[in-house]
Amino acid sequence: MTERLKGRVAIITGGGSGQGLAAARLFTAEGAKAIIAEWREDTGLEAENELRSIGRNVTFIKTDVSSEKDVQAMVAKTVELYGTIDILFNNAGIGYSYNAQYKMADIVDTPLDDWNRIIAINLNGMFLCSKYVLPVMRAKKSGNIINNSSMNALVGESGADAYTAAKGGIVSLTRVMAKDNARYGIRVNCTCPGGVITPMIAEALETNPGLREHLEAGIPLGKLARAEDVANAALFFASDESSHLTGTILPVDGGWYAI
Ligand SMILES: NC(=O)c1ccc[n+]([C@@H]2O[C@H](COP(=O)([O-])OP(=O)(O)OC[C@H]3O[C@@H](n4cnc5c(N)ncnc54)[C@H](O)[C@@H]3O)[C@@H](O)[C@H]2O)c1
Repeated sequence: MTERLKGRVAIITGGGSGQGLAAARLFTAEGAKAIIAEWREDTGLEAENELRSIGRNVTFIKTDVSSEKDVQAMVAKTVELYGTIDILFNNAGIGYSYNAQYKMADIVDTPLDDWNRIIAINLNGMFLCSKYVLPVMRAKKSGNIINNSSMNALVGESGADAYTAAKGGIVSLTRVMAKDNARYGIRVNCTCPGGVITPMIAEALETNPGLREHLEAGIPLGKLARAEDVANAALFFASDESSHLTGTILPVDGGWYAI
């Protein structure tokens, strides 16, 4: 590895699984100190143990990103432990594999409570983390935020309207955050993954035979993404290699958006 994030302090929300875990592995391999802000204690601790066992500097802080109290406490703890925050990977989200818990449907079939909960986690969570991290970054006039949205924000995908609205909000929020925070030396960019093989869609793939083939047939590169594909894009935004990029909305979709 090339130590592209040497000494930097990175908060990774939803770092216990999937793309967040891939980012925690990659960012710390590149020299970052990582906070895994995750609401699941089992996967959060597992990720912390895995990375500490190979000498990485990582701390799990149990956090529900939709809780203002949790987010405030997580940010304060990060500053107490590491003195600063350089990178925020706003990644935590719920989606297709939570269908039993929060109904993913079109507007007519979406209960208001489910709509509110999906927005609270997927959109408000990014608002809250940014709200409490930005003052730390503004005070030192540098920082880097990467918001993980979805191709649902850019292409109409039927049957997940609350999720789609949240992800669309993230794209718009990225643009205004980039504009407003450039003067503080803070860059804000956005990844928009297409289908990524993580626990989020694993259940949907398992319970719908033929779905994976159907999805992959629509992707020019012919395959769903790996979590590492998105983590690599996030690393690029987090590193100095993208120093002139802010407000960028990057599809990580195997060319799906191109056709
Ligand atoms: N997998 C896909 O196909 C896909 C496609 C596009 C976008 N995304 C987005 O990528 C992001 C990461 O998803 P993933 O694919 O790695 O799925 P995942 O389910 O493996 O990981 C999501 C993580 O976020 C955590 N999380 C959920 N709600 C939380 C909360 N309130 N507070 C803290 N942590 C919470 C989960 O516990 C989990 O560890 C999500 O925002 C998702 O919407 C996923």
